[in-house]
Amino acid sequence: MKHLPLFFDLAGRKVAVVGEGPKADLRADLARSAGADVRRLDARSLTAQDLRGAVAAFVATGDEAADAAVHRQTKAAGVPVNVADRPALCDFIMPAIVDRDGVVVAISTGGASPTLATVLRGRIEAALPERLDVLARLATTFRAQVNALIADPGRRRAFFRRLVEGPAARLALAGDEAGARRVALGDLDAARRKMTPSGIAHIVGAGPGDPDLLTLRAAQLLQEADAILHDDLVPPAVLARARRDAEVVSVGKRKGRPSWAQADIDTELVRRVRAGQTVVRLKAGDPFVFGRGGEEVDALRDAGLAYTVVPGITAALGCAASAGIPLTHRRHASAVTFVSGHSAKDGKQPAWASLAREGHTLAIYMGATEAPSVRDRLLGAGADRSTPVAIVENGTRPDQLVSTGRLGDLARLAATHSESGTAGPSLIIVGDVAAYAAVSASPSLAKVS
Ligand SMILES: C[S@@+](CC[C@H](N)C(=O)[O-])C[C@H]1O[C@@H](n2cnc3c(N)ncnc32)[C@H](O)[C@@H]1O
Repeated sequence: MKHLPLFFDLAGRKVAVVGEGPKADLRADLARSAGADVRRLDARSLTAQDLRGAVAAFVATGDEAADAAVHRQTKAAGVPVNVADRPALCDFIMPAIVDRDGVVVAISTGGASPTLATVLRGRIEAALPERLDVLARLATTFRAQVNALIADPGRRRAFFRRLVEGPAARLALAGDEAGARRVALGDLDAARRKMTPSGIAHIVGAGPGDPDLLTLRAAQLLQEADAILHDDLVPPAVLARARRDAEVVSVGKRKGRPSWAQADIDTELVRRVRAGQTVVRLKAGDPFVFGRGGEEVDALRDAGLAYTVVPGITAALGCAASAGIPLTHRRHASAVTFVSGHSAKDGKQPAWASLAREGHTLAIYMGATEAPSVRDRLLGAGADRSTPVAIVENGTRPDQLVSTGRLGDLARLAATHSESGTAGPSLIIVGDVAAYAAVSASPSLAKVS
């Protein structure tokens, strides 16, 4: 290790910044953010008096001779100095910093490559949750109580570990600080009584299928979960991002296997969380868009258990992006509606008449088999037969298929998808914007458009 990383308390202490320009400004801002009494000084008129009492000096004049001269002055004044971009003149170097309101990570390559330090900082920024400061606050709030109530050091450590990475931490990171405190109090009570504290459920959107479209939080939770209860629409590539030893349970409906009723899924969630597990309920797309996430939240809330909801990229957004279809467009569409295709079959009909309008995009979540019904409803409501449509099957996945056509032809278009044999989930986009679709290279489908 070339430099020893130390965190220097600068609050109220004099720090000299000599020079001007962005590098000097950056150093002044950083020192100020640590509470330093920053003095901006001019290299040309710098005196020993200016440096007296300073605990550190930053120099960034941009001129080699001036940097060297100021460096000599600071050394003569006995002040540790950092000269920007001149490692040979530095008593200390500036690390790349990740700052989450008090939780600070400093990265140094010993001056060898500031670029590498910056790249590493980017990776650490992405890996660390945003509200780390809340975790630090939570730990501070509970320190005295825990030390007083839990005598055994091993159990105390276990409590703090759980506090910063267990259910309370997850609520805090999701912005629910009051909920986090409540859960932490419950954990403390359980720890005192040597009982198993209850766990937490995360209702997580898995996105449309491409694992790179998981949110950062979803990816973090997949690494934390004891158990993952997932829909069949969640592909193996997404499940592969789960912690190795997580229990992965399919609660989807698939032929040849007893299917899970929604009530059974709710019961299973509650059972596992009561037993202390961290459970990820992983749902395709977004849990609150045709995902029945609301019912699972009700069950957890009724049971008085902790939960968070993590949004995901819903199929309409994923499919539109990967098929090159702008859902709204200044010239073609000023509104977009997400419609469930199932309602085309059962009694609860969407208001087709208000949907079949020009300048309005429809993203219809449905299997290809329901296409004729949707076509008939839209035509019956007055839509134009020549309205562009696109079908996106397996959107965002390696086997994505896109075809385009006209509303009058929707059933034939959908039949071609069924014949292609992938039988993946598909979404229909109706409206002028559908004409923007980049049709997939599949020969069987390309000819349809
Ligand atoms: C029960 S809904 C769930 C929707 C999900 N919660 C969401 O926000 O995307 C299932 C329907 O979503 C659509 N869907 C989900 N993933 C898809 C994908 N990768 N490509 C095309 N459609 C998809 C299909 O219309 C499928 O029938």
